[in-house]
Amino acid sequence: MVLKVAVPATAKDRGRVAPIKFAHIVFRTSQYAEMLDWYKTVLEAEVVIEADFLSFLTYDDEHHRIGIANIAGLIERNPRSVGVEHCAFTYANLDDLVSTYERLRFEGIEPYWCINHGPTLSFYYRDPDRNQVELQIDIFADIDSVNAWFLKSDFDLNPIGVKFDPQEFVRKFKSGVPLDKLLKRPFIEPDQVGEQFPDN
Ligand SMILES: [Fe+2]
Repeated sequence: MVLKVAVPATAKDRGRVAPIKFAHIVFRTSQYAEMLDWYKTVLEAEVVIEADFLSFLTYDDEHHRIGIANIAGLIERNPRSVGVEHCAFTYANLDDLVSTYERLRFEGIEPYWCINHGPTLSFYYRDPDRNQVELQIDIFADIDSVNAWFLKSDFDLNPIGVKFDPQEFVRKFKSGVPLDKLLKRPFIEPDQVGEQFPDN
C-alpha cells in the first residue's frame, strides 16, 4: 500500500477554479416526517423552508445543509446497490461529540458503529431510511500531525480503525483519562482488522 500523505495545495492555490465549499446533501424519502425529525434532532438543525414536497434544514450559516424531498412510493434501497456510503459531520471538540452522543442516546438514537479511524473518532448512525451518517472529531490539530501519524502508524495494515464501546469510552472520558491516551488509536493485530467492521 502506498500512502500519499502529502496533502497538495488547495485547488485555488494551484491556480484552479474549484468550489469554495461543500454545500449540502439532499435525501429523497417516503418517510418525510420521520426524516425531518431525525435530521433536526441529530444535527440540531432548524427548518428554513418547509413545504409538502421539500424541506431545507440548516445548523449553521448556510441557507441549507440538508434537503429532504418528499416522494411517495419510493422503494427501499437494496443494501448491495451502488451509491453514497455515508456522509460525515465534524464537531468542534470531543466534549461536543460526547454530549451529542449522550443527547441522542437519551432520544433513543444510538450509533451502530463507533470506531477510532486514527485521524478521526467517529460515531456512525443510520437515519430512518438507513442512510449512514458519521459524527466525528478530528483527532489531530492540523494536517502535518495527521501526516506524521499516517507515516508512523499501522494504517497500511489497518486502514479501517479500531472499534470501541461508546459507553465505556464516555466513562473513561468523564473520569479524566487524558485526551492523548483516550484518542490514540490502539494497535491491533492484522488478523483482527476484519472484526472492526460494523456488525449490522
Ligand atoms: Fe467517513
